[in-house]
Amino acid sequence: FQPKWLAGRKVVLTAGPTFEAIDPVRGITNSSSGKMGFALARACAHAGAQVVLVSGPVGLPTPFGVERIDVASALQMRDAVMGRLAGADVFIGVAAVADYRPEASAEHKIKKSGEAMTLTLVPNPDILAEVAALPEPPFCVGFAAESRQLDAYAEGKRRNKAVPMIVGNLVQDGLGQDDNLVVIYDDDGKHPLPRGGKMGLAQRIVEHLSGRLGRHPA
Ligand code: C5P
Repeated sequence: FQPKWLAGRKVVLTAGPTFEAIDPVRGITNSSSGKMGFALARACAHAGAQVVLVSGPVGLPTPFGVERIDVASALQMRDAVMGRLAGADVFIGVAAVADYRPEASAEHKIKKSGEAMTLTLVPNPDILAEVAALPEPPFCVGFAAESRQLDAYAEGKRRNKAVPMIVGNLVQDGLGQDDNLVVIYDDDGKHPLPRGGKMGLAQRIVEHLSGRLGRHPA
């Protein structure tokens, strides 16, 4: 591992789940431990980058040398990311952002009535796609956690979100675990990484990323 791969670069990452409030004590969330995003933030800092980590609610310590911003909802995560992108060379979206949020969050705890209840959900912004669509985007890396057809879905996401690099994994291979099986998809095709711990994988991903940066019109 070459510690200077990202020297002089600024990297902004998202990690963890988002939490979309229904009322003061309830909400909708995704299952995400934040381990992969935190491992990547750590690997980027170790590789010499200035790192800003925008994190949803997780129970993980902040990696050494990383600036951390805690958020709850997808809207807060988007604002935190957009506010920190100035001068960024790389954006890595690792967060499991909730696709929908309640249309309105109740000010007070909703009381049960015994009746059926309907919750109206509205779509959240796609943070990764928005960053990639900026006039001068940083080099964008996305993640795709799928339960089947990884190649097709991951490559589809790469095209739909217009990002140069997607890291894909099958959820049954890694969710909440310390190690994972991932495949990198980029303009040159498909690059499976050997199964490994999330920290080792994060270093391999940083290595691959730094190789792509050289060719990216910055
Ligand atoms: O479409 P899907 O949610 O599976 O795409 C996953 C990738 O997009 C991840 O990199 C995730 O962080 C990012 N994403 C995002 N904002 C969303 C949804 C996904 O940044 N609202």
